[in-house]
Amino acid sequence: MAEIGKDISRAKKTLEAGGLVAVPTETVYGLAGNGLDPGAVASIFEAKNRPSFDPLIIHVSSYLEIEKYVTVIPAQLGQLAERFWPGPLTLLLPRKSSIPDIVTSGLDRVAIRVPDHPLTLKLLAEVDFPLAAPSANPFGYISPTSPAHVEAQLGERVSYILDGGKCKVGLESTIVGMEGEAVVIYRLGGLEISEIEDLVGPVVVKSHSSSNPQAPGLLESHYAPTKPFFIGDLDELISKYLGQGVDFAVLSLDKSFSVLPFRNQIALSKSGDLKEAATHLFAAMRTLDESNAEVILAEWMPEAGLGLAINDRLRRAAAIG
Ligand code: TXA
Ligand code: MG
Repeated sequence: MAEIGKDISRAKKTLEAGGLVAVPTETVYGLAGNGLDPGAVASIFEAKNRPSFDPLIIHVSSYLEIEKYVTVIPAQLGQLAERFWPGPLTLLLPRKSSIPDIVTSGLDRVAIRVPDHPLTLKLLAEVDFPLAAPSANPFGYISPTSPAHVEAQLGERVSYILDGGKCKVGLESTIVGMEGEAVVIYRLGGLEISEIEDLVGPVVVKSHSSSNPQAPGLLESHYAPTKPFFIGDLDELISKYLGQGVDFAVLSLDKSFSVLPFRNQIALSKSGDLKEAATHLFAAMRTLDESNAEVILAEWMPEAGLGLAINDRLRRAAAIG
């Protein structure tokens, strides 16, 4: 059992001693350790069962901090940082040797961001190192958006969970870097493509590539529940599974189905609001995964705004390449 609380000095002491603390961010909870200590970083990989080829994001307290860890900041990425940090944006930037190899899995670029959560920003300001932190879930499973989610799965492996309540964005950060002159999005996330393009012009989106050497962690099967997960037209899927007598649960954007018991269905936003839907997505996937249903049925979101990032997570949950 991990302890859950708001004690920043306890979190600080644990981190300074090379231990791990689960920390809140606006996107998802992170499993944090001293990002300059290869031993602490190794224990993050171990606790998550994460393969060593899948690099970690470094979290810092402000934009000014990143010059300790990166060699150059291309103008467009600097603009994005100034506009959207603290916030759900991760930049891939050429790293200095101050960042241990184990953090980047030996890659030349380090992923770095300023998270938008008051507790974690306070913690970051108090420690004299950046925090390496992947999402605080076992590798491949759904990311946690509350302290209870972390406790349920990593409670045995982390002694302290800093309680920052529910994550207000609910999807991981959008990962952005440069290739030549092009701004490239490697993972769709809580910052919308249109917000990025409004500032720096058209971008290239590479997040669907299943064999993307720039972001080895973006595997096809990820963010995945343990139950079979199918996506499509819900009316069709429901009549198919009703006919088979299989117990199933349904995840929709905004619908309710009178043919199904209440407990077997979740609408992510009754008003169809995609930001609200994003906030609830991972908690809903967990609830349905823990229900009695044998199968989870879901529908695609509109391909706009955060709908793109939600669909990306649904696609990976269903392991559709
Ligand atoms: O919102 C978030 O980004 C959360 C919170 C805790 O900050 N963190 C998060 O970390 O989602 P994680 O480790 O679950 O996902 C990080 C992704 C992985 O797909 C990884 O492969 C990619 O970022 N990544 C990290 N460092 C990279 C690097 N140097 N080059 C390419 N991809 C990198
Ligand atoms: Mg993750």
